[in-house]
This record gives sequence, C-alpha cells and structure tokens, in this order.
Amino acid sequence: MRVLVTGATGFVGGRLLPALAAAGHDLTVLTRDAERYDGPPARVVEGDLLDAGSFEAAFEGCEAAYYLVHSMDAADFVARDRRAAHNFARAADAADCSRVIYLGGLGRDSDALSPHLRSRHEVERLLAAGDYDLTVLRAAVIVGAGGASFEMVRRFVAHLPRVFVLPLPTAARTNCQPIAIDDVVGYLAAVLDAPETRGRSFDIGGPAVLSYADLLRRMARAYGHRLFVAAVPWLSERLAAHWLALFTGIPETVVAPLMAGLDNTVVVRNGGIDELVSVAHTPLDAAIERAIAGD
Ligand SMILES: NC(=O)c1ccc[n+]([C@@H]2O[C@H](COP(=O)([O-])OP(=O)(O)OC[C@H]3O[C@@H](n4cnc5c(N)ncnc54)[C@H](OP(=O)(O)O)[C@@H]3O)[C@@H](O)[C@H]2O)c1
Repeated sequence: MRVLVTGATGFVGGRLLPALAAAGHDLTVLTRDAERYDGPPARVVEGDLLDAGSFEAAFEGCEAAYYLVHSMDAADFVARDRRAAHNFARAADAADCSRVIYLGGLGRDSDALSPHLRSRHEVERLLAAGDYDLTVLRAAVIVGAGGASFEMVRRFVAHLPRVFVLPLPTAARTNCQPIAIDDVVGYLAAVLDAPETRGRSFDIGGPAVLSYADLLRRMARAYGHRLFVAAVPWLSERLAAHWLALFTGIPETVVAPLMAGLDNTVVVRNGGIDELVSVAHTPLDAAIERAIAGD
C-alpha cells in the first residue's frame, strides 16, 4: 500500500519509516526540507502544512497517511498546530485518502490540561472532521533517544552529581505511564493492517504507572546515581522550567510547555487496543537502558 508519512524527519516518524518499509509498504514522506530526510527509500515531497498549496501533491496515490507533526519548538505552537491539522485534513479529503492515523497525547479533557496537551487534543478534533477513517493513538512520555520529553529528563539526570537531593514542584507527584518508542512504532505499524481500528481512538502506555518523581529516580538509577526528591510547594512549574532549560541547554520554548503538563495525569484509561493488535510491552527499565544507549 502507498502510505504518506508526515513528520518523517521527527523522532517518531523517523523510527516508524523502517518498520513500514520492512512491511512492504511504498512510502511517500513530507518534509519542509528534503535534504534533512535520511530514511529508507521513499518518494520525498517538500512542502509546508502551514502553507496550503505547497504540500498537497504528497497525497498522490496514497491510501493512508500518518499525522506525526508538531511545532513544539515554536512559541506560537498552538496556532501553528491548529492550522497545520486543518490544512492536512482538507487536503486528505480532497485527495480521497481513506485512512489517517494520528499519534496524540493522553490526558482527560475534563482536567485542566496544559496548553500543550489541549493543543494535541484540538488537533485530534480537527483531524476527526475529515471524511476518511481516523485512528488515534494517545501516548504519554515516549522513552527513546531523541524524544523531546525523554531527552529533557535524560540530559538533566546525566548532569547530576552521583548523590543529589532535588527540589521539584509538588506536581511531580502526578502519575504518568511512559512507553518505549519501539512499542509506539509497533502500535502505529500494526493499526495500519487492522481494519477494526479504523475510526477509533485508543490510549497506549507501557507496563509501569509511576509519578514523574519516580521516573526521574528510575532514570538516575540507570546512570548509577542516587536521587532524592523533595516536593517544594513554592516551586512553580514555570520557575522549574527556567532552570531546567538552563541546566540542559534545551530551549525554554520546548521545556516550558512540557513542564506545564506536570500536573496532568497521563495514564491509559481506554486500553482496548491490545485486544485488536499484538505489540510487546517493553519494561520501563529496559526501555530506559536502550534509550540511554542511543537506541
Ligand atoms: N515525543 C514524545 O514523547 C511524544 C509523546 C506523545 C505523543 N507524541 C506525538 O507524536 C507525534 C510526533 O512527535 P515527535 O516527537 O516525533 O515530533 P518531532 O520530533 O518534534 O518532529 C516533528 C515533525 O513535524 C514536522 N513538521 C513540523 N511542522 C511542520 C509543517 N509546518 N509542515 C510539515 N511538517 C512539519 C517536522 O518535519 P520537518 O521539520 O522535516 O518539516 C518533524 O518531522 C506528535 O503528534 C506528538 O504529539 C510524541
């Protein structure tokens, strides 16, 4: 089947492409800069989803398309992601693409979601407006080398002294359910061949549910460090984002939206996907070790 992958140069898209190629699919990829694409053989289309008229040729002959785009590195990411999703949905309809698969974010709309998670959910609604069958997979932190949230934590932990007491906002006690990048790729590839997942949404997560503070401790342990976490009520997520950006060298425009989601519980509630497709659930420590090794 000919499949369009947007976000092909990104963390998730770059890992998904070899799996789709291995499954025998013909690939078309969309990027704003064709020179940056270094994945498996594909028809490479240069275009910008923010610029209607620049990217529609990418849909030519495609029965299905993956939407793996976001603009986290831009301060106006909410408006950009809204426009990109709207333009994509219109173009997919016009091209009679019958299937779209989107990887979004966990979190309940009834909670006070961070702008980042709200935006991920808004993109889901915009994509759902199309005539094609939409499959949505929702994930929390993805554990893998190069993932924005994971790298933020990894760079931070890697720079800590071997024994350290870390002050954190109390929101670090919130639960999350990280998932290994290999498992995310497994789900994304598997739903393409599972017609019963058409038109449906699923939460995906790894085997461990734990607080962000515990996730930090598990990461520190993988580096052979001992980390003690002290929840400090006066330490806001905004202040924590500021010094985290300084400490890791990751732009504050990326760190701040992720830190703002610290008090949103992101765990699997609708886990029905495992009744329809068979994907490994990599244990968290194994996923962390692989990611630290650069895998
Ligand atoms: N990373 C995580 O931990 C995580 C967790 C949960 C869910 N997700 C979801 O996974 C999906 C992919 O995330 P990621 O981490 O792989 O993102 P990423 O590494 O930041 O990559 C973003 C991709 O978006 C493309 N893009 C951005 N603006 C574009 C535009 N205007 N036109 C065309 N392409 C554009 C970029 O392509 P070019 O620069 O080549 O144009 C890039 O390949 C997102 O939907 C995200 O919500 C990620």
